[in-house]
Amino acid sequence: MKKRDFLSIADWSGEKLSALVEFSGQVKQNPRKYLKALEGKSIAMIFEKQSLRTHVTFDVALYELGAHGVYLTQADISLGKRESVYDTAKNLERWVDGVVVRTFAHTTCADLAASMRVPVINALTDHEHPCQAVGDFLTITERIGPVKGRKLVFIGDGNNVCHSLMILAGKLGMNFVAATPHGYEPDRKVVKLAAAAAKRLGARVDVSNNPREAVKDADVLYTDVWTSMGQETEREERMKAFREFQVNKRLIGRAKPKAIFMHCLPAHRGEEVTDQVMDSKQSVVFDEAENRLHSEKAILLTLLLDEK
Ligand code: CP
Ligand code: NVA
Repeated sequence: MKKRDFLSIADWSGEKLSALVEFSGQVKQNPRKYLKALEGKSIAMIFEKQSLRTHVTFDVALYELGAHGVYLTQADISLGKRESVYDTAKNLERWVDGVVVRTFAHTTCADLAASMRVPVINALTDHEHPCQAVGDFLTITERIGPVKGRKLVFIGDGNNVCHSLMILAGKLGMNFVAATPHGYEPDRKVVKLAAAAAKRLGARVDVSNNPREAVKDADVLYTDVWTSMGQETEREERMKAFREFQVNKRLIGRAKPKAIFMHCLPAHRGEEVTDQVMDSKQSVVFDEAENRLHSEKAILLTLLLDEK
């Protein structure tokens, strides 16, 4: 059987992704059922960048599934520098049953996966954050029910988190608008792909430069930092460009009254979101953080076992 990776939401069918979100909910409801499901397996976790949520949730997920995780930072292995990505892959596959990897360039993650016989899970690259999107759709479903025909508006940078959410929304038939400043729109290829998937299900994926217009009728408002990891030298110019894109009481007031507020975290309070919104009843940001654990268990189980 061909090994499966989880590198991009684009690689998986809508049916498989929908099943993954549903399975995440089942794992959450009945964690005891999977206590030893991955007993005897070892997973390498390679992180080129910092992480709180992804590191802790994968570590705890592996522990609670009976598996062992080996955490490796750039200080440990210098991926692509101390030796080639290919050689690193060919070593690792002799010892471990899978790899969770966070890299700067998406190509590093893809090259690693292409060189390995064992599954690779993208734990965030500059292009996508697929694990975040799966956990978030569990949170959305819990809060608002079936997503088909509902509306998610992403405010801010057309970044990795935006890309994964946009494709997943399209594949599940949820309307999606990315409202970004000029020059910070999501990747055109991603928009095209997501829009085509959405169209097949009678939904729309759009890009806008007007946050006040975009949030009308939104069921979900989502934002992320204006400066992602690796873009720190652009911080000042980004602070200026994104000034009108803060999620505050006024902006959320234009969405549906029961709209939920989401953020992958870490948040820069006072920049892309105010304390008032982060700490409001509409905010589900810590549910999102919790659901990373359950959905990552579901991803690991789906990739590492033939049957769940
Ligand atoms: N949301 C998220 O992936 O957080 P970390 O960068 O802390 O892992
Ligand atoms: N867009 C952010 C997400 C962090 C989870 C980044 O890449 O830094």
